[in-house]
Amino acid sequence: MDDLLPGFVAVEVAGAADFEGELLPAEAAHLSPRAVAGRRREFTAGRVAARRALGRLGVVGHPLTADNRAPVWPRGTTGSITHTAGYCAAAVARTPDVRAVGIDAERRTILPANVRASICLPEELEWCATRPGEDWWPAVHFSAKEVVYKLWSPIVGTWLDFHDARLTIDVETATWTARIDPRRLDTSPGAPDRFTGRFHVAPDLVRSAGVVPA
Ligand SMILES: CC(C)(COP(=O)(O)OP(=O)(O)OC[C@H]1O[C@@H](n2cnc3c(N)ncnc32)[C@H](O)[C@@H]1OP(=O)(O)O)[C@@H](O)C(=O)NCCC(=O)NCCS
Repeated sequence: MDDLLPGFVAVEVAGAADFEGELLPAEAAHLSPRAVAGRRREFTAGRVAARRALGRLGVVGHPLTADNRAPVWPRGTTGSITHTAGYCAAAVARTPDVRAVGIDAERRTILPANVRASICLPEELEWCATRPGEDWWPAVHFSAKEVVYKLWSPIVGTWLDFHDARLTIDVETATWTARIDPRRLDTSPGAPDRFTGRFHVAPDLVRSAGVVPA
């Protein structure tokens, strides 16, 4: 994931042992006692990878709690966690360097038509249709829009729908720009009106990431 982010962002991809790692007591309190084994494993890998990334910024032994599922980062830092079947990563940075960090990984699957329509605006679906044989573009939209939400949420603190952002993809530079619907900005004064990031498509995995500069 560090290939998609500026050098001042500390990125850790979880290894196999991290899925069986130790949670700090304050972190375990944010995992439902009814959590299935898979959820426990991904939550643990995210916490262990995030604490290792924080360690590279000199922040050691700090439990990573949550507020309504959003990670609560130690003072002076911010970051993002993602997990999808068998893959987990965390990225953190100092808040003097950035306002927000967002990362997302998704297994590369062909999304059903109803899911594509719920994620993509009609003009985004039209753009995907101009790339015949490249069935991964709706998944790229999905992944990039999840990044947009992970950047928006810590700054603005409100919900953002998939259709509230219009994505433009530059295939040559493997970058995306998301413009927020002006009607949404009217109800969120001071919110950023656009977000940018990078993406990568592999045979089995789609990854996206971005930052909001300080
Ligand atoms: C929150 C959300 C983006 C997470 O994405 P996901 O694909 O389900 O899962 P990921 O594995 O990539 O990310 C999960 C992690 O996101 C983080 N997260 C959860 N809520 C968050 C928030 N409000 N802000 C930032 N990060 C958040 C958590 O660390 C979580 O992992 P954890 O519970 O193990 O700590 C997604 O569930 C969601 O609610 N999406 C709808 C909103 C949206 O994406 N709108 C698009 C706007 S253009």
